[in-house]
Amino acid sequence: MNKNVRNFCIIAHVDHGKSTLADRLLELTGTLDPHQMRDQVLDSMDLEREKGITIKSHPITMDYRTPDGDEYRMNLIDTPGHVDFSYEVSRSLAACEGAVLVVDAAQGIQAQTLSNRRMAQEAGLVLGPVLNKLDLPGANPDKVAEDLALLLEIEPSSVGRISAKNGTGIQEVLDRVIADVPAPPAGSKKTRALIFDSIFDQYRGVVSYVRMMDGILRPGQEIAFHSNRSQTYEVLEVGLFRLDMIKKPELVPGDVGYLIAGVKRLGDVRVGDTVIDAGNTAAEALPGYRPMKPMVFSGLYPMDTEDYEMLKTALEKLSLNDAALFFEPETSEALGFGFRSGFLGPLHLEIVQERLEREYGLHLIATVPNVRYRVTLPDGEVRVVENPARMPDSTEKVEEPYVDVVLLVPSDFLGNIMKLCQDRRGIYKEMEYLDTERVKLTYKIPLNEIILDFYDKLKSLSSGYATMDYEHAGYGVSNIVKMDILLNDIPVDALSVLIHGDKAYEWGRMIAAKLKELIPRQMFQVAIQAAVGKRVIARETVGAMRKNVTAKCYGGDVSRKRKLLEKQREGKKRMKQVGNVSIPKDAFLAVLRVER
Ligand code: GTP
Repeated sequence: MNKNVRNFCIIAHVDHGKSTLADRLLELTGTLDPHQMRDQVLDSMDLEREKGITIKSHPITMDYRTPDGDEYRMNLIDTPGHVDFSYEVSRSLAACEGAVLVVDAAQGIQAQTLSNRRMAQEAGLVLGPVLNKLDLPGANPDKVAEDLALLLEIEPSSVGRISAKNGTGIQEVLDRVIADVPAPPAGSKKTRALIFDSIFDQYRGVVSYVRMMDGILRPGQEIAFHSNRSQTYEVLEVGLFRLDMIKKPELVPGDVGYLIAGVKRLGDVRVGDTVIDAGNTAAEALPGYRPMKPMVFSGLYPMDTEDYEMLKTALEKLSLNDAALFFEPETSEALGFGFRSGFLGPLHLEIVQERLEREYGLHLIATVPNVRYRVTLPDGEVRVVENPARMPDSTEKVEEPYVDVVLLVPSDFLGNIMKLCQDRRGIYKEMEYLDTERVKLTYKIPLNEIILDFYDKLKSLSSGYATMDYEHAGYGVSNIVKMDILLNDIPVDALSVLIHGDKAYEWGRMIAAKLKELIPRQMFQVAIQAAVGKRVIARETVGAMRKNVTAKCYGGDVSRKRKLLEKQREGKKRMKQVGNVSIPKDAFLAVLRVER
């Protein structure tokens, strides 16, 4: 057993300072040269840096010499905090024996603090609670330490206190990890490694991130994946993570590293699978993690229909690195060939769309997100519907998914937030005062009501203070109707939405009005109608364009005229032609732009 190895991750609610603590740990252990150092250095994706959030888990190996001169290898995984990415956290936990649970000393325990703690304890990890941001004037460490102690059933004095920003208390965090987190078990002789993430490298194929449990992995070795034992591969390279990947002669139990085995077919590697010796057909799979069920669905279509194959390859590659992403081909009369894609939540959808556009140079149209309905037909057949265009005209009953939403709300904002939950068809379940200022509220709410703008509303109605977490809570019968949008009498399938009957009228009006704003004037008049079945519930008209864009350029200014025409052509490229109407990309998400 390698008693001088520790595998741990940092978990916390959004913005409580995980990545900043990781920076300080990397500095203290001298893992990076000073010139490599920058704030939140592990958040390496452009999107992560721009949005200031962690999206992917990031593993890195640190070599640490204690003040007593003992040498330790510390494998750290920084994890995301947002609820949509909790799947990333659960996979990182499976690769570790311990977790540092960071809590902002000014904000106190938040919704994700509770769910992270639960996930870490379920995974059997040793938890090290740490209060961060002690330097903030609003920090209330004694109070938050008491709350945490109560939650974790420990003494308040055993809660660490740090400021990741100015570097105080960092040494103690490492010392505590060494003292409290057990060394990884020695493992048996036959190779087993858990794949907890993968990326695709265009030159080397699939690079799998593994946690070694048993045996050894070294170049030249023949291996297989447990889920498909007949297919074997030769290990080409193994190594550890620094900021880049560092080649090593072998990986042994306890190591967190990478494996390249000439796997060219993306479908051959599944996150959560076990790497085994080729021929060891008796090997048992390591406990992986539950496959995630997508909750939110949207159609993704290339703006340019010729990019369909590119989109397919991009989705395959991205899903390797994002195990929660689901997709299957679908067609739309309006948009052509695309993919019905499934996500863990709205932020996940937004991030995937942005990654496809940036990392793969695609221009995409996403349709209105919706949930997965269970529909019983009059003849008793039960169907799952995740695309509004596929909702049968006649149904016996429609069931929609519910979630139990846990909200942590400062008591000043309680009224606002309860009203929000009720407006979203929420069913009150319970309320618990955590102390005089904070309330834990639980509501059962249809998932469809929280996937669009619930989170933003929650934040704006509580001046940013309320936080939320949710869990699947089964299906319930509901009055769901399909609302179609017709442009000049032609229904545009990609604009259809599934909506609760009581809200259809109000929504129909708001969406028609929004589309009127978004659809530009054309050479002819465009009639916008929202209809449920044959009943038109709202109507707007976009008047015809009166002037030609070049009309003002009289005289001989040919270059200006050409420029204007080019500009107009460019504008058209960004539009989707449906029937004779040009629809801008944004219009397909008109629902998201509606203020309610
Ligand atoms: P997510 O990955 O998005 O969940 O965030 P995170 O938990 O990794 O938080 P991050 O390290 O990105 O820090 C969030 C913000 O808090 C940043 O603006 C940091 O500069 C700030 N921050 C982190 N630690 C401290 C601290 O000790 N004191 C103060 N004042 N600010 C801090």
